[in-house]
Amino acid sequence: MSLTVLGIETSCDETAASVVRRADGHVEVLSSVVASQIADHAPYGGVVPEIAARAHVEVIDAIVARALDEAGVDYGDLDGVAATAGPGLVGGVMVGLSFGKAVALARDLPLVAVNHLEGHAVSARLAADIPYPFLLLLVSGGHCQLLEVAGVGACRRLGSTIDDAAGEAFDKIAKSLGLPYPGGPALERLAEGGDSERFPLPRSLLGREGCDFSFSGLKTAAARIAVGLASDAGRRDLAAAVQEAIARQPCDRTDRALAAYARAHEGRDLRFVVAGGVAANRTVRSRLEAPAAARGFSFAAPPLAYCTDNAAMIALAGAERLALGLVDGLDAVARPRWPLDEAAALANPVHVPGRKGAKA
Ligand code: KG4
Ligand code: ZN
Repeated sequence: MSLTVLGIETSCDETAASVVRRADGHVEVLSSVVASQIADHAPYGGVVPEIAARAHVEVIDAIVARALDEAGVDYGDLDGVAATAGPGLVGGVMVGLSFGKAVALARDLPLVAVNHLEGHAVSARLAADIPYPFLLLLVSGGHCQLLEVAGVGACRRLGSTIDDAAGEAFDKIAKSLGLPYPGGPALERLAEGGDSERFPLPRSLLGREGCDFSFSGLKTAAARIAVGLASDAGRRDLAAAVQEAIARQPCDRTDRALAAYARAHEGRDLRFVVAGGVAANRTVRSRLEAPAAARGFSFAAPPLAYCTDNAAMIALAGAERLALGLVDGLDAVARPRWPLDEAAALANPVHVPGRKGAKA
């Protein structure tokens, strides 16, 4: 069966559209257009939700038109439309989801309301043949989780951050080092050639039971050191130390998850995938390779362009759902919070659930 799906992503500060074709399990990205809003938000040092929503409205039709044009397809060639329905900044999510609904209604196409995290979960499958199931480390600006992924709609959470996400830690520490938004890539550049041993930083949760994460102690300690730094060399050394400290934790926590997953899947092929914006960090990626190899897992990470937010991953999640008959009505709602493993999030809300429900 061949399915050609338009994907739309507007949950944060990228307006993205993509056309993906999936035929007999083989995936072809026909186009992937990403319009970044970095310049709009940079003066404020972070994403301003209202500015993000308005910026999505301004460009969404042009970005979708470009994605169709670059793919060489028309609306009539599509088998479905997939749009991110959460979690994320709800004003932005509504823009992309409403656009997707309008296309679905006007063209009589099935709509798939995609969980952004499920997009990250399938993202490595855009460029390589990685069968289910696999163990996934999802490290992004909003999330940091270990999940067993058996397919779309079938994720089981093994661990999650109890405070900040890894990307959030990168961004906030980068800010205290005076780096521009978005901080993660800027901090990675600053860290080059730095002495990661110079500043001792907290080793939160290392060696502890379970697979949860915590980055807030590291964030506070690094911010305190940053205040007293006068030289560029000092800032470089602190950036290197922070990057190592952030990478150390996924490495330690993932190793525990690898061990548990290997026990539960004895005799089967073992696959480990790291995805999300922070998977673009070379130190984070490389520190994960050794534990995966040592425990007999294959290792995969999406190409850099599919680590950070994009619509190709949304289109693929949509195509996989469509193939299983998992479609949504035009009454699908935009959700600021939407855990991938809702049962685990409700039973053990490592993020305080709050008014809007469990976050992760
Ligand atoms: O997946 P993503 O694009 O958006 C979310 O779903 O959150 O991830 C964005 C996060 C940001 O926190 C950004 O600073 C971080 O990923 N990031 C990086 C790098 N590239 C992006 N962090 C460290 N090193 C990088 N090279
Ligand atoms: Zn993301």
